[in-house]
Amino acid sequence: MSEVIKKETILSGMQPTGSLHVGNLEGALRNWVNLQEKYWMYCCIVDLHALTADYKDTKGMKDKVFQMAVDFLSAGLDPEKCAIFIQSEVPEHTELHLLFSMLITVPTLTRMPTYQDKKETLDSYGFLGYPVLQAADICLYNADKVPVGKDQEKHIWLAKDLAQRFNTIYKKTFKEPEALFTTIPLILGSDNRKMSKSYDNHIPLEFTEKQTEKRLRSFYTDPKKQRQGDPGTPEGCPIFLLHKVYTENPEQEIAPECRTGALGCVDCKMKLNANLNNALQPIRDKRVELLKNQDFVWDVLATGRDRARQRAGNMMDKVRKAMKISYRKK
Ligand code: TRP
Repeated sequence: MSEVIKKETILSGMQPTGSLHVGNLEGALRNWVNLQEKYWMYCCIVDLHALTADYKDTKGMKDKVFQMAVDFLSAGLDPEKCAIFIQSEVPEHTELHLLFSMLITVPTLTRMPTYQDKKETLDSYGFLGYPVLQAADICLYNADKVPVGKDQEKHIWLAKDLAQRFNTIYKKTFKEPEALFTTIPLILGSDNRKMSKSYDNHIPLEFTEKQTEKRLRSFYTDPKKQRQGDPGTPEGCPIFLLHKVYTENPEQEIAPECRTGALGCVDCKMKLNANLNNALQPIRDKRVELLKNQDFVWDVLATGRDRARQRAGNMMDKVRKAMKISYRKK
């Protein structure tokens, strides 16, 4: 363990979508990599949450979990500093989920915006309980902070509410977790929508330089700027948004020449390509190295599981005692 004195615990979770992309890196992972220096970190690959949507087609799950673990490590999560584990390998998550499900009403859950958004296609009991499972993930480690995007605000509120309810009804057992919102850069994909694997508009971390270049060439740019010489608008351009992350001084180096038209879109993309490839190269190298040593990745997940189970097991003992459903001799 590092010499920094860590006081607080962070629990973070991500659904296993397989190998990750630039949007995941800038939207979450980079933040996690920084946080592991100061907090006790638990990084949970939430395969049970993924089942709420993909319960029928599960043959790809193992590989998705594995690829995501590879990218966690390539991007710099350090198994010495944070426990990386698979949710379903720590059965305490499902146990606390069930106990928490007693403390919440169905209307509270049907009102959740995430449920409202998808209820036409997803109306299973499991999907309705998605935020309850998330609350269990968080409370099981007595997490102080949960790094999430704004879209998850209501879910963290619910976790806090469930912790409070439990504490009031039985006995003070849980800390009340707080969301940790950090300013994350907006990253759009090639079609000008949010970068997402499901839109196929993303830049995977595992892309080669050539593939990255090809993907960047296909990126949406200001339709009014057809050729070099035409004035452009950097604000909101998905390429400029990436320059803001990967290019030094983009406001001086890129924006003015885009506005005057001196910089054409293809040249602008190629400048970005060089900087992006520079930034991604160490991650790609690490990925290649890890894929040659897959046992190491599985071992990291096994160690993470054991550490998580230890902490979760202690917590569940307290929970059962508080609820008076602990049936030991004494
Ligand atoms: N619901 C989160 C998302 O869609 C994933 C998640 C599950 C999570 N359990 C969590 C995030 C616990 C933070 C903490 O992004």
